[in-house]
Parts: sequence; C-alpha cells; structure tokens
Amino acid sequence: MKVEGSVAFVTGANRGLGACFVKSLLHEGARKVYAAARDISMVTLQDARVVPVTLDITNLAQVEQAATLASDVTLLVNNAGINHVEPLLGARDLNAARREMEVNYFGTLNMIRAFAPAMKREGGAIINVSSILARVALPSMASLCASKAAVLRMTEGVRAELTPYGVRVLALLPGAIDTDMSRDFPPPKIPAEQAIEEALAALRDGPDEVYIGSMAQQVAAGLAADRRALQESLSGF
Ligand SMILES: NC(=O)c1ccc[n+]([C@@H]2O[C@H](COP(=O)([O-])OP(=O)(O)OC[C@H]3O[C@@H](n4cnc5c(N)ncnc54)[C@H](OP(=O)(O)O)[C@@H]3O)[C@@H](O)[C@H]2O)c1
Repeated sequence: MKVEGSVAFVTGANRGLGACFVKSLLHEGARKVYAAARDISMVTLQDARVVPVTLDITNLAQVEQAATLASDVTLLVNNAGINHVEPLLGARDLNAARREMEVNYFGTLNMIRAFAPAMKREGGAIINVSSILARVALPSMASLCASKAAVLRMTEGVRAELTPYGVRVLALLPGAIDTDMSRDFPPPKIPAEQAIEEALAALRDGPDEVYIGSMAQQVAAGLAADRRALQESLSGF
C-alpha cells in the first residue's frame, strides 16, 4: 500500500514513535492524518492536514467517537502502548500486568473493532506496533512481553478476518527505539525515524510481520536457530 494519498489515523501521536509516524506520513504524502492523543494540547505539529483527536484507547466511548469522526481512514496505526517494566512473580500485585493488557492488547483491539467496518468498505491497512518482546521474555518486564505476544497473536487473527476485504494487517516487532519508553534501557537503540522507514517499506511491498532494526532481526534469527539457547541468554535481563 502507498502512503501517498492515504488518510491515516495514529494513536499515541503526541510523542515518541507516534509523533514521528505523523511526521513521516505527512512527508510521504498522506492526504490527512488524524493525530490521536489523550491530551491533544500535546499534539504540536503545525500542518493543515493534521486533525487532532482526543483519545484514550481504553475508553470505548472515545474510541467509537473517533471511528465515527474518522470514517475515511485507510491506514490505521495502532501505536499507543505502555511498559511498566515489571516481572511476573516479583511484582507486588497484578496491577501493572492488567494495565499493560488493558492498553496494549484490549485498547488495540478496541480500535480495530471500531474501525474495521469502515475499513472493510474502503480497503487499506492496519499497522499494530507490537515488539520483538512478543517473541521472547525479558524477565524484568515479562508482563509487558506477555501483552505484546497477545497483540501479535491477535494481529494474526484479525488479518485472517480482514484479508478477504482487501485490508492488510501488519505487526511491527521493533527492538529498542530511542524514545521516553526506553529512557532507562541500555544501548543500542535505533532512532524512531529508522523504525518508521522500515515499517513504511514493509507497508509498500514487504512482509506482514516486520522485524524492525538489527536487534530484532538478530533475536528472530537466534530464535529460529535455537529458541532455548536464545531465551536462556536473556535470563539475566
Ligand atoms: N521504545 C521502544 O524501545 C519500543 C520497542 C518496541 C516497541 N515499542 C512500542 O512502540 C509504541 C510507541 O512507544 P514509544 O516508544 O513511542 O513510547 P512512549 O514515548 O512512551 O509513547 C507512548 C505513547 O502511547 C500513548 N498512550 C499510552 N497509553 C495510552 C492510552 N491508554 N490511550 C492512548 N494513548 C496512550 C502515550 O500517551 P501519553 O503521552 O498520554 O502518555 C504516548 O503517546 C508502543 O506500543 C511501544 O510498546 C517501543
């Protein structure tokens, strides 16, 4: 799918990867970009093609309002996400794990269910931002990993339902990207611009499951060669 002439909708568009998505989509010739954020005063990009939308993806009423407003969308970018950096057994309670599932998995699914009817009519594409941590567990943030694995499997299910309607459904599996979310992670981290360049190349004519950056590609190769050894090598993280 070409970005040029498309009508895009980006969640979590006020900062990090989402803000960078908006900029890149405009640069690539998108006709309109709905830039959704919990606080639209933080959407600062000045461009007549940008339509700010107030949206918390866990708020079903707001999600449905957004889908009604943006019924012309041909490219939905489900970017919004959280990482509470909590282990599974060492966490004090299940609050972080539940919240990660609520935002990363159910929030993304809310969006797809609300936008799918219009997208079935128009065709187009959905990009779900998962993570390479959908494929492996980092023990220090294993509840995040579980939520991103849920996103990956959900993406496969949604793809099966939407392919007959001419809607492509991509999963992005990035390694570390240099944003607020990875502020306390050690390098290497790739710039958000590089992550988006690779995502948009896949959207044009690449695979549906997109390993973004060399870290993610190395992990995928390691998993294919020896899953157990690769997972064990991450046991200290
Ligand atoms: N950074 C990495 O290393 C990395 C690696 C792999 C995957 N990812 C994924 O990439 C995506 C973007 O992350 P990022 O690195 O740009 O992180 P970020 O800088 O922390 O930005 C996260 C964005 O998600 C929004 N958000 C959080 N909860 C939301 C909700 N309930 N409803 C609507 N928006 C919500 C945030 O809005 P507020 O400003 O209102 O909080 C913010 O705009 C996420 O899905 C993340 O899991 C990131």
